Amino acid sequence: MHATSACVFDAYGTLFDLRSALKHHLLVLGAPAERFLEVWRTKQLEYAWTSALMGLDRNFLDVTRQSLDYALRVCGIADDSGAALVDEIAEAFMVLDPYPDVIPALREVRQSGRQVVILSNGTRKMVTTAVERGGLAGLVDEVLSCEEMHTFKPDPRGYELACAHLRLQPRDIMFVASNTWDVAGATAFGFPTVWVNRGAEPAEYPCLPPAATVSNLIDLQSLVERVDAR
Ligand code: LAC
Repeated sequence: MHATSACVFDAYGTLFDLRSALKHHLLVLGAPAERFLEVWRTKQLEYAWTSALMGLDRNFLDVTRQSLDYALRVCGIADDSGAALVDEIAEAFMVLDPYPDVIPALREVRQSGRQVVILSNGTRKMVTTAVERGGLAGLVDEVLSCEEMHTFKPDPRGYELACAHLRLQPRDIMFVASNTWDVAGATAFGFPTVWVNRGAEPAEYPCLPPAATVSNLIDLQSLVERVDAR
């Protein structure tokens, strides 16, 4: 029977609730708050991918700030005076709340003897801060940032970072993510993948299906055992 050696997790939207970055700013954001969050996240990812494709050496904090500024403007929330709001929300993005199912799930995975690793487009500082402030420090063996490879997921060089650092073959790593593009990229790279479909979204990338789909992380450890036993 195969035995997964490490569970590698995406950070934002998988372990950490992006929405929690706005919890102290909902009043100032007002009615457009929902649209603002959607525009911000969409542009944050777009700017990351276009930067990588253009060969620009930009990190995730750079594109997070740029996408915040754009979203504030396009939602009519702030004009040039939005710089202070960009600083505040970018700071809040450093200390996101973990989803309630995360700590028990990571604890179970570690107790099974498997490594718990985060592989994120976020900078090491961004993700390490979120891990520490979110109470996950004793449950995460390593934080890996694609910043080290001067690119962003789903560039295969991002996923290769996990194999190189852990000295493991792709088949020995279970990659866990909520973003379908990340699940597809990791699947294309060769990882067995788990899609955490927290928002009950329709599946995408039918040519790159995950090994399993769940709605949360509550039974992750037993799922890993079941996938290993196939
Ligand atoms: C991450 C974001 C992109 O890599 O979800 O954590």
